[in-house]
Amino acid sequence: MKKNLVANLMNVVFLSIFLFACSLGTSKQAISIVQQNVGTYEGKSVTEYTLTNAAGMQVGIINYGGILTKIITQAKDGSYGDVLTGYEKFDGYLQKGNPYFGALIGRYANRLAKGTYTIEGIEYKAALNNNGQSLHGGLKGFDKVLWEATVLPGDSSIQLIYLSKDGEEGYPGNLKVEVVYTLTANNAIKIQYTASTDKTTVINLTNHAYFNLSAGKSPTIYDHILQIKASKFTPVDTVLIPTGALVDVKGTPMDFTSPKKIGLDLDKVVGGYDHNWVLNKADGLQEIANVYEPNSGRYLTVATTEPGLQFYSGNFLDGTLTGTKKGIVYNKHYALTLETQHFPDSPNQHGFPSTILKPGETYHQTTVYSFSTK
Ligand code: GLA
Repeated sequence: MKKNLVANLMNVVFLSIFLFACSLGTSKQAISIVQQNVGTYEGKSVTEYTLTNAAGMQVGIINYGGILTKIITQAKDGSYGDVLTGYEKFDGYLQKGNPYFGALIGRYANRLAKGTYTIEGIEYKAALNNNGQSLHGGLKGFDKVLWEATVLPGDSSIQLIYLSKDGEEGYPGNLKVEVVYTLTANNAIKIQYTASTDKTTVINLTNHAYFNLSAGKSPTIYDHILQIKASKFTPVDTVLIPTGALVDVKGTPMDFTSPKKIGLDLDKVVGGYDHNWVLNKADGLQEIANVYEPNSGRYLTVATTEPGLQFYSGNFLDGTLTGTKKGIVYNKHYALTLETQHFPDSPNQHGFPSTILKPGETYHQTTVYSFSTK
């Protein structure tokens, strides 16, 4: 009897060890990472890291601009397609007018009125690059620099580090930025940002991925169905600087509280959607938006720790970009962005959540894009 009990116990122990080892084995094999040299920039090599999970989802990341170069996901018919805009070759990203495809954006994502802001009584001027305003970090933002890339232990994450020098593009303080991209087994891309500074500065980081969930089958996003969990938005003036007001979306074309076809009210918005929504959320990571493309069945959900979401309907795409993936013509409204962020021009808008970062503090932002079908 006793012998049997001991033998059984031993079996359970061995089985547990075996299952644990198997689970370690599969989690190791679950994501594969392939590195490929895709070009050079400022004399240094540019590497693309392609992460593939067991479901066959693929994500491409390059160390130039921390750009997401591809997101290949399955449609409901089982076929795979790339839902991101981008170029066939690395050089495409260097062309004038590349509209931040897939890039990391900083030091201050979105617009700063006249590039001017004051911190602790000192006036700073960020580089102007958009109708007399500063957009997405200025002339050479975080989207146009080389990041130091490392494959993290566990083989499912790429870490990118960039040191933005004191005074770069008109921003005070040496800012150390770390971004970790992770592909998960359940088809999500997690982006974790952290940063610290040695002088008080402003910071607003995001990613500028453009999605068309049909993966090139539909020339516009009019039939994509979008939900944004926000009951207010921040109206803007003619140069897209917020007026400072928070306005109810109810009864306006900005209302995406229930899922709605993007094409339904698009022509009622002057210039198209390019606004910041004030998310209905508490602190922490929460799902705040989703997009569904009925033909492919692809469904994207967005979760973030941020208070705002810039939904941009690709209004400035005009078919002129060259070297695009498969030669696709990226015309107006081909793709949309869902940029999780702090509100535009926050340093000048005292009613908006603060974007100040002080020495000794750590900036954090996490955003998760999850893909599935239905
Ligand atoms: C952001 C801006 C838009 C546009 C694009 C890039 O989303 O809000 O106005 O500048 O970037 O073209």
